[in-house]
Amino acid sequence: MEYRIVRGTKDILPGEIGVWQEIEEKTRRIFALYNFREIRTPLLEDIKLFNRSLGEASEVVQKQMFVINRDDDVLVLRPEGTASVARAWVENGFDKEEHFGKFFYIGPMFRAERPQKGRLRQFHHIGCEVIGSVSPSLDIEVISLLRCILSEIGVRDFRIKINSLGCSRDKAGLSEVMRGALRDKKDGLCRDCQARYDRNVLRIMDCKSRQCRQLVDSVKIFENYLCPGCRGHFDKVLSGLGDLGIEYEVSSRLVRGLDYYTGTVFEVSSGLLGAQDVLCGGGRYDNLISEIGGSTRGAVGFAIGVERAIIAMGAKALESSGTPLDVYIIPLSEEALKTGSKILYNLRLKKLASDMDYEVRSLKANMRKANESNAKFVIILGDDELRQNAAALKDMRSGGQEMVPLDNVVGVISERIAISSV
Ligand code: HAM
Repeated sequence: MEYRIVRGTKDILPGEIGVWQEIEEKTRRIFALYNFREIRTPLLEDIKLFNRSLGEASEVVQKQMFVINRDDDVLVLRPEGTASVARAWVENGFDKEEHFGKFFYIGPMFRAERPQKGRLRQFHHIGCEVIGSVSPSLDIEVISLLRCILSEIGVRDFRIKINSLGCSRDKAGLSEVMRGALRDKKDGLCRDCQARYDRNVLRIMDCKSRQCRQLVDSVKIFENYLCPGCRGHFDKVLSGLGDLGIEYEVSSRLVRGLDYYTGTVFEVSSGLLGAQDVLCGGGRYDNLISEIGGSTRGAVGFAIGVERAIIAMGAKALESSGTPLDVYIIPLSEEALKTGSKILYNLRLKKLASDMDYEVRSLKANMRKANESNAKFVIILGDDELRQNAAALKDMRSGGQEMVPLDNVVGVISERIAISSV
């Protein structure tokens, strides 16, 4: 075929859309329970925003940005949402006027990665960002929110890993500890990690190559790189999660790949995912707002990768089949098509989801389509029915069929659907 979809992107076809809609509806409801407001930022941003916030040495900036050179602007397709929300927070005056805000977003992100299972070049995030407080209660709130979303959409076997990188100074200290510990082992690292050793040594800790994993595992990391303030914050987060009965695993090797993180960081993984086993990542980024021109404000958030979440839902993902029709109309003649169009119009005015076959076909072929549409009622318009100014109304649940006057058919169906939904 001459025209094919771009590798690493996916058509989400009508057969799969049910699960997407269900996930989105459920998460929107939960965000409302937690008093988060939706924000939609552009897919295009200035490259400088990500260079500054994610860090020039981060994998995303180094290798994964889709860059568009246009006149004097260098734009990118956004690789993530945190930096965009932070920009919008400062640019739209929230920083001066509101001082505190809870936002969520749902939408596509773009990373020029080598595609494989669970790793796409266009994928989707359900994300949230809370800006304006350094309280450990917010770390607890976003992790409880995350757990609530995952359980509600049907992700079962997941593990929450958590760590603290500490403040900028602690993070620099941790980098030094790592550099010292790996100095003699540098030659054994993969080529990418040899470069990371100088540029961004913490990234070596989550390199997936076996040789680097073994080396990193052989290095002891002591948590005493945390200053008393950061240690205290982290202890409060852990005990708060314990109070809520949220299970977690502290992992001193969890560092996250984006430079803006400080303090608490966390990831969620699932055994159903294979090599790309992380379905959500998040954490604090207390310096980002001031780094891009706002005030010094604590902030914390996470993003769930929707495609990976769907894989982690396993069989549950197949259960969502989308919204069924209320009514399907079968016209058996050209005349019936005209009558069908009128009924269809009136059904939709009554907010009843309905459709019909726009070609005249045999009753058998039409009934097959009606069954596929999962409609609750079928209206059959044949010559006999039209002669009597009536329609045959079939209740697909009970199988019963009756003649109903044409001018009454919409009313009858409305009533029955209203009764059955009480
Ligand atoms: P991230 O860990 O880079 O974090 O991405 C979050 C999630 O997006 C990952 O856990 C993964 O499920 C999914 N994901 C990432 N890359 C791909 C890909 N190429 N294909 C499919 N799924 C992918 C962030 O983006 C941060 N902005 C999260 C955050 C929000 N931190 C604070 N607030």
